[in-house]
Amino acid sequence: RLKKVLQILNPGLNQLQQNMLKIAPSILAANPLKLQRDCLDAQKYGAYRISVDVMDGHFVPDITFGHNIVAYLNGILNIDIEVHLMVENPSSQLESFLNAGADVLTFHIETSSEVNQLIDYIQSNEKKAGIAINPDTNIESVEKYLEHIDELTVMTVVPGKGGQSLIVDCLEKVRQLNKIKKMNNLEFDIQVDGGVKKDNIKLVYDAGADIAVAGTAIFNTENSIQNNLQTLMDALR
Ligand code: DX5
Repeated sequence: RLKKVLQILNPGLNQLQQNMLKIAPSILAANPLKLQRDCLDAQKYGAYRISVDVMDGHFVPDITFGHNIVAYLNGILNIDIEVHLMVENPSSQLESFLNAGADVLTFHIETSSEVNQLIDYIQSNEKKAGIAINPDTNIESVEKYLEHIDELTVMTVVPGKGGQSLIVDCLEKVRQLNKIKKMNNLEFDIQVDGGVKKDNIKLVYDAGADIAVAGTAIFNTENSIQNNLQTLMDALR
């Protein structure tokens, strides 16, 4: 697809990121009136992809984005879009977000009893399937799916809000998942989501994460997106 070709040619993807921790800005923290410019800046200055936090007011109290925002972002971005479904009934949402152009669909293990069907549906549409686990969910609950999924997201905050502090104890799950990956020669990416900042991103990387979602560390009023991305990348050196 054109998007994939452009990604290969995308000069913006920071060489450092290709080898180290990839950073995925979460638009939950972005100013919706500046979204197009901010996402294009994020792409230009090295974001691996954009993360869209979808909340339904049931699984988590707030309501956020619908599939139409994904369609518009898909129309302007070359980098991937990950849709993080913090919704009570993820199976009812998959088709509309896939049709909107989501490249990765992440659903919560706490919300589904038909996990294999969800994974199969997403992957049969040639997209990546991810499972997210809350801070109080152990990795035993997802171990049997690890050979089938493309990504596992370890929530390092209680889902539902940006701007919270990273729960460091959750990084132990990242270390455990890395051991499981190596022991079983599995290839799923490990994503950390919640509270990632310059003062803890090296901990996240050292624990073995492949991707870090960052909302308020990127989209804030103090500094430019370019500066914020560079600050996180510099903290990884
Ligand atoms: C929380 C969201 C996180 C959040 C990250 O439910 O899933 O992705 O947007 O925002 P920060 O980086 O501000 O914690």
